[in-house]
Amino acid sequence: MSPFAPTVTLNNGQKMPILGLGTWLSREGEAVETVKAAIDAGYRHIDTAYLYGNEKEVGQAIREKITEGVIKREDIFVTTKLWNGFHDPENVEEAFNRSLANLNIDYIDLYLMHTPMSYKFVAWEPENPDAASVPEFTEVDYVDTWRAMEKLLNGGKVRSIGVSNFNSEQIGRIVKEYTVKPVTNQVECNPGLNQRKLIEFCKNLDITITAYSPLGRPNYYEKDPKNTPKPALDDVRVAEIAKKYGKTPGQIILRYLVDIGTIPVPKSANEQRLRQNIDIFDFKLTEAEIKVMDGFNNGKRTVPFALCASHKFYPFNSEY
Ligand SMILES: NC(=O)c1ccc[n+]([C@@H]2O[C@H](COP(=O)([O-])OP(=O)(O)OC[C@H]3O[C@@H](n4cnc5c(N)ncnc54)[C@H](OP(=O)(O)O)[C@@H]3O)[C@@H](O)[C@H]2O)c1
Repeated sequence: MSPFAPTVTLNNGQKMPILGLGTWLSREGEAVETVKAAIDAGYRHIDTAYLYGNEKEVGQAIREKITEGVIKREDIFVTTKLWNGFHDPENVEEAFNRSLANLNIDYIDLYLMHTPMSYKFVAWEPENPDAASVPEFTEVDYVDTWRAMEKLLNGGKVRSIGVSNFNSEQIGRIVKEYTVKPVTNQVECNPGLNQRKLIEFCKNLDITITAYSPLGRPNYYEKDPKNTPKPALDDVRVAEIAKKYGKTPGQIILRYLVDIGTIPVPKSANEQRLRQNIDIFDFKLTEAEIKVMDGFNNGKRTVPFALCASHKFYPFNSEY
């Protein structure tokens, strides 16, 4: 039988599986098959974004699995994100409706503000995510964008709202000025950047942490080892722990992230790794092993949003 991820109850009572499938770089042609394979493998939580340009494919895969009778709509938790170019409160509802239409699955479980940084609106088409040009920034305050996101809840087409790439001060401001509290803050989290302080800060506010790039993006390291922190995947200390449990290094890293209280969303388009990545709920690391994994923390980011470093709301200058 396929392993299933347990769920966590969010601060608004909704339930979210504590492991999901990431879909960044799952593009046309690949995304439909990958998401279908993931659902067959037991995944019930899919992470996409307007920026990724694959919401249509993700939605198609889910609808096909519903038609096949494998899942019902309510069995699956789908997250998508409001891109930086749509932060103007006047654009938020239209941006949301476009994501909903792309996905075409009746409602969205979780809508995240992708980052606290707003860009000038250029067009509704998703921009090329690989573009190396610096976008034009605006000073739209993320608190105003958040208020517009809160209004979406009244329409009944989204169950929960949250944020991504927010630092503790920014979360604090939202919480102080909020009507609705974010259910999660989706941030980079892997052994190299284990986010212990941010996890604790958010936990005290009953806000979960979703861990993106949980494996430390080995694909980026392979392409550009000079400018990408080395992921822990190939380290002998991880291999030793993996050997003890009869698991792979990737599974040890994902289990570590669950054990420290996060919700990892690893991306894989490889069927074997896809299955392995969710097969982590039949063991638990010891305190000593968690300490070993904590030893990889060096604070280096694989996703620094470097082109935005001069943005007024750039989140990564504060300690956490
Ligand atoms: N909110 C944000 O700003 C933000 C930013 C970045 C990412 N995200 C989300 O987080 C998801 C995951 O992050 P990511 O895609 O950046 O990086 P990641 O999940 O850390 O790494 C993905 C890479 O790891 C490989 N891989 C998967 N499982 C593996 C395993 N068990 N052992 C070894 N290698 C493995 C994959 O290759 P194969 O496909 O060949 O298996 C892929 O190349 C994204 O897809 C996206 O949904 C959000």
